[in-house]
Amino acid sequence: MAKHVLVTGGAGFIGSNMADELLNRGYKVTIIDNLSTGVKENINPKAVFIKGDVKNKKDVEKCFKMKIDVIFHIAGCASTIKSFHNPAADLFTNVLGTINIINAAIKYKVPRLLYASSMTSYGVPDAIPIKETMSTRPISYYGITKYAGERYCLATGLRKDLSFKLNVTAFRMFNVYGRRQSLTNPYQGVVSIFIGNVLRGETVTIFGDGKQSRDYVHIKDVADAWIGAIDNKKSFGEVFNIGSGTRMSINNLVDFILSQFGKNRKNYKVIYKEERPGDQKHMQADISKAAKLLCWKPKITFETGMADTIKWARETWIQK
Ligand code: UD1
Repeated sequence: MAKHVLVTGGAGFIGSNMADELLNRGYKVTIIDNLSTGVKENINPKAVFIKGDVKNKKDVEKCFKMKIDVIFHIAGCASTIKSFHNPAADLFTNVLGTINIINAAIKYKVPRLLYASSMTSYGVPDAIPIKETMSTRPISYYGITKYAGERYCLATGLRKDLSFKLNVTAFRMFNVYGRRQSLTNPYQGVVSIFIGNVLRGETVTIFGDGKQSRDYVHIKDVADAWIGAIDNKKSFGEVFNIGSGTRMSINNLVDFILSQFGKNRKNYKVIYKEERPGDQKHMQADISKAAKLLCWKPKITFETGMADTIKWARETWIQK
């Protein structure tokens, strides 16, 4: 029988792509989302949808009316900047929300939990590329809560007092991009922020000197890693970096995106503003652990992934 996966945050960018891919591969899917940043149009009609908030125990309970075999816990506040403006909101959703999911997993004896952790767990990395064994010293409030959630999940997986085994895997995702990343939310990922700016003819703002770099990974590759791990025992109790294994500076990213629209800095306005709090400098994943244990490697090149994302963005923009 097809396994039933609960996707928290399944109306958002990462969660909805994940839900689609699970359904494509024959899984049953239930989605819980509070539609704060996620949108109804992202929800696959083949999924059961529960409008609810992971912070709210009663909402979480509703998801377990049917037997759930696997949880993809993706719901969360996903903004470094917002976490500084409202640390309590970030804490409640990302940490308390995760605890609610864990408690439900224990109560309903769900044997498998996959958690969306973040490269912000590392803070200032020991070295580049970053290995999972390196220090985790988050420098944003957001990073603290994502890392705390990760530790709650992993520590629960180690518990021997439960009457069943809860197998946990956490993915420290680097800069995920692709279709459905918000083009209008200034807090959701630099790739879609810049694409949205250029589509609307707005000035592009670079915070800091633009020399900071990021590891951009396509959402389809991310979904591959997660879904491939569901039944892979080697992933139980483990943390994996999910990135492309390469990095590109923000300056170069801007130039690349402008070039895709037939523009350059001579005919398009790009300005620099002060670096933002909690900003990491260089981020690049060492993905050898995922390659070895998950037999996973990203398949979508930056050029292909960006071309597809920009195509989608143009189409979406024209429809509006
Ligand atoms: C991002 C996500 C974070 C996720 C992490 C790993 C956001 C806000 N952050 O962190 O949730 O956990 O990837 O997947 O979604 N920048 C500009 N101009 C802009 C926007 C951003 O210069 O208009 C800069 C930022 O200051 C930063 C870099 O671009 O230096 C990347 O920004 P962004 O993708 O927003 O955040 P990350 O810190 O990389």
